[in-house]
Amino acid sequence: MFPAKVYSERRAKLRKELSKGLVLFLGNQDSAFNYPANTYSFRQDSSFLYFFGLDHPDLAGVIDLDNGTDHVFGNDLDINDIIWMGKQPTIKEQALNVGVDNTAPLKELSVLIKDALEKGRMIHFLPPYRGETTLWLSDLLDLHHLKLREHASIELIKGVIKLRMVKDDLEIDEIEKMINVAWLMHTTAMKMAKPGVVEQEIAGVIEGIALSHGGPVSFPVILSINGQTLHNHYHGNTLSEGRMLVIDAGCESDLHYASDITRTVPVGGKFTQRQKEIYEVVLKANLAATGAVKIGVPFREIHLLAATEIVKGLKALGLMKGDVKEAVNKGAHTLFFPHGLGHPMGLDVHDLEGLGEIFVGYDNEVIRSKEFGLAFLRFGRKLQKNFVMTIEPGIYFIPELIDSWKNENKMAEFINYDKVETYKDFGGIRIEDDILVTDNGARVLGKPIPKTVEEVEKTMKS
Ligand code: GLY
Repeated sequence: MFPAKVYSERRAKLRKELSKGLVLFLGNQDSAFNYPANTYSFRQDSSFLYFFGLDHPDLAGVIDLDNGTDHVFGNDLDINDIIWMGKQPTIKEQALNVGVDNTAPLKELSVLIKDALEKGRMIHFLPPYRGETTLWLSDLLDLHHLKLREHASIELIKGVIKLRMVKDDLEIDEIEKMINVAWLMHTTAMKMAKPGVVEQEIAGVIEGIALSHGGPVSFPVILSINGQTLHNHYHGNTLSEGRMLVIDAGCESDLHYASDITRTVPVGGKFTQRQKEIYEVVLKANLAATGAVKIGVPFREIHLLAATEIVKGLKALGLMKGDVKEAVNKGAHTLFFPHGLGHPMGLDVHDLEGLGEIFVGYDNEVIRSKEFGLAFLRFGRKLQKNFVMTIEPGIYFIPELIDSWKNENKMAEFINYDKVETYKDFGGIRIEDDILVTDNGARVLGKPIPKTVEEVEKTMKS
């Protein structure tokens, strides 16, 4: 946990973003895995962690905007709990560690909220995303669970996004530590990527590396020789010569800050000419995008710059044709690069996404597109100092998408379908780093993870 004053200051800053009433943060509860007592590993809600820091189930935090007090609600363990869980600090002791003096048992929370409702006080809450929290909130507010999202406080959502998007040094340090663990996960995977190995053997080892450094993986490991499927969580294929292996994996720190890195490597350790050509295009898009990061530049522009590099490269290889700018404007690149360039990262691997991408990634100046491809860009608005973003361009040959476009003769002025046909067995390539927006542009965070063709081949041989 960070020093208590970090949490007190965050709550003080949040107060300045809001006008009146109560701010209610419900912590997460345990969720049943296959029967009530066998639960998933506990993961605290990220906004609760940010403002109240406590990493246990069944807690709530309240900020009273009207009288200036902060409260933690939770129950101390009784002897029956202690038999199973051991002695734990009291709620009072825990709350003091995050700068909160006022504590009360959970049943007092219902009393406070009921009283506030009767007095017509504003109760700010974030949209819930878990079943248990949804039901808890619904009971507390006496509001049907299907109505909760529409009653969530826009003022609070915007305030939380404003604060959490800008990372301080402590947070950046946590993120970098996890990128350094990702370095070990990725270089280990590179060395294991030999013909005859089954994907799950590598996925298991790298997930173990994450766990052995404290936290779990920050999202289910994506590791596949079928990297053309963007989020492929199937790990049953056997690696064979000639395939590329996409490894998209990161981990969480003890305090739950994430890393999210993708590398793509040739099975066996040596790129073929065809693999190298496509890889170099993706790498160029990755470097160009990173080089274009600047305070005040809309991330959508950087996404389109990466798309331009991809079209230029594919045109040079004879897979695309025509005017590059026009191809990007019309979205022809989305046959090969159908997703967004990146997303914010922090306490959530897709930071703050649960509060609504429309609030996190867009504003009055940059409106979310509805076009295929650009619509998947999770974040389009202007970058600010100390935002942490992923930069993750890719090129994928998705046979079903190629067939579908080809049957419609879609964008035929920009796509050489005959040549593209010969790449249907290629798979996909994605190269992803986590960057910090600084006064000077972008800083690629963490220990450099092999990225050029030479670096990847050298690591795989070692
Ligand atoms: N790297 C996984 C994701 O962004 O969803």
